[in-house]
Amino acid sequence: MCGIVAYIGPRDAAPILLEGLQRLEYRGYDSAGVAVAAKGGLKVRKSKGRVAELAALVPARFAGKAGIGHTRWATHGVPSDVNSHPHLDGAERIAVVHNGIIENADELRAKLQAEGCVFQSETDTEVLSHLIAGLATEGVELEDAVRAALKRVVGTYGIAVIDADQPDRIVVARNGSPIVLGIGEKEMFAASDVAALVRYTRQVVHLDDGELATVRADGFNTFTQEDARATAKQPSIVDWEEASYDTAGHAHFLVKEIHEQPTSVERTLSGRIDERFNTAHLGGLNMDAREARAFRRVKILGCGSAYYSGELGAQLIEELARIPAHAEPASEFRYRNPVIEADTLYIAVSQSGETYDTLAAVQEVKRKGGKVLGVVNTVGSAIARECDGGMYLHAGPEISVASTKAFTSTAIAFALIALHLGRVHDLSPADGRRICAGLKAIPGQIREILDQEKVIADLAAKYAGHEGMMFIGRVRGYPVAREGAQKLKEVSYVHAEAYPASELKHGPLALIGPELPTVAIVPDDELRDKNLTALGEIRARSGPVLMVGHTAPDPKLAEDCILVPRNEPELDPILLGIPLQLFAYYAAVALERDVDKPRNLAKSVTVE
Ligand code: F6R
Repeated sequence: MCGIVAYIGPRDAAPILLEGLQRLEYRGYDSAGVAVAAKGGLKVRKSKGRVAELAALVPARFAGKAGIGHTRWATHGVPSDVNSHPHLDGAERIAVVHNGIIENADELRAKLQAEGCVFQSETDTEVLSHLIAGLATEGVELEDAVRAALKRVVGTYGIAVIDADQPDRIVVARNGSPIVLGIGEKEMFAASDVAALVRYTRQVVHLDDGELATVRADGFNTFTQEDARATAKQPSIVDWEEASYDTAGHAHFLVKEIHEQPTSVERTLSGRIDERFNTAHLGGLNMDAREARAFRRVKILGCGSAYYSGELGAQLIEELARIPAHAEPASEFRYRNPVIEADTLYIAVSQSGETYDTLAAVQEVKRKGGKVLGVVNTVGSAIARECDGGMYLHAGPEISVASTKAFTSTAIAFALIALHLGRVHDLSPADGRRICAGLKAIPGQIREILDQEKVIADLAAKYAGHEGMMFIGRVRGYPVAREGAQKLKEVSYVHAEAYPASELKHGPLALIGPELPTVAIVPDDELRDKNLTALGEIRARSGPVLMVGHTAPDPKLAEDCILVPRNEPELDPILLGIPLQLFAYYAAVALERDVDKPRNLAKSVTVE
């Protein structure tokens, strides 16, 4: 998804902007551009393609102490040099970079054209440059011009604006698309993602929706879009390591992050296991035991892999706390006028904390008076700020578009929440102790699975040639199958479908044959025999089977097998998912896919 970087201070902006844009490359983009405010006016370079191509266009002498940069992911108009941001007005006084979508752009464009504005691009963003310039040339201060222009706009945005005639400031604004300010020593930064800032500063301020900021070299002030009322902001400190933004010798971020999981899980668990009372210590939930007991239901909301991790979470909560729990895609929930119940606990899941559908679902619950907790990785993100409490994953920044370590840490977070809710209900101390011990064993067991990398890579190469794959699992194994199928299709573009193993005979068995392999999740639980029966049905139709489980079955039932260490049955799904991440990664490698930049996908989906 698009990225924004802005700088103002004593240094030349361009190298800082280009470096920041490189840090945002992981989000997915098709073109890039920069504009700096220099003595003689604005200097602009933009191009379709990679940031490296843009950097080659920027001359060594490109002086300007204030500037904005952008990576674009096309929505209005094809990827091209001219459609790349920044966008300027006709007099080249104002430059704008924009993330999000302006829904009434066509209508505004027609009006502006009728007034004589000549448009260069097909983008929705360009209307903003003309609107702001129209006011600025009448002598309106830049921040007032931006505010007035935004009043005419319907849609979502994160924007940064510079004015050749007022080069002492950059104005930024947020509505549905993140903007974070970075505070330096006599210099200031702004970006859509802290990844672009961590090299320069750790002190950040997150803008809220409906907020603008004027950013100058010596500081910033924030105010509301509605009535220009000053707002008070408290800076927070980003504790993510700069090293997380490098592949550190790995071929791709995806495989690096798969390998980080023993330590990212340790961080998620750190300080949260309470062995005295065999429970989880989760102060951030902001709930005492009485309140935690009062909930009759749990509803988990997230999108994509966050939703699948929520399905694992719902099962954990039902099993350990015996509270009815259910996960639903936030993207559906928000559009169906959901009934919000006072005795339901809502939990929003998001790695980025900025997914627009999930944020909108949280806002819908809150508007109707519901209580929402967040299970979020990115500290200070919009969803985290919107929730009434929750847990941070502390998994570290996830750069790979395909989520792995955040998925696993979310499942761990749900195990902790389930343990906590279980222990205020009827989970016995002995069962609590069993789950605590199981959780503590997980990092080591993930290491054992990662040690099988070579075997899994060979299997992935063997199966990658097929046009499609079926993933099946039953009850605890079903969300694992769904996430396994999701990973495979995202990074290898191999068609993958997930089904409950119990549903095979109700339809999808018709697909099974030698050309469609099945990945079957078969833990050693009470459903193993039923799962093996399903494998028999697949083999009877000559369907190849790769089984992921604890004990190798009769070779007649599965020609290949990946075995994982056994934990507690409730926690086993967390481990069963790990080989499927490696499987998807190596299938993509075998098919020579661009693993860290999968086609059509962006890291965080901040539009509807
Ligand atoms: C899958 C993936 C996506 C995200 C989804 C939600 O690998 O990355 O399905 O899980 O877009 O993103 P977050 O968790 O940032 O809300």
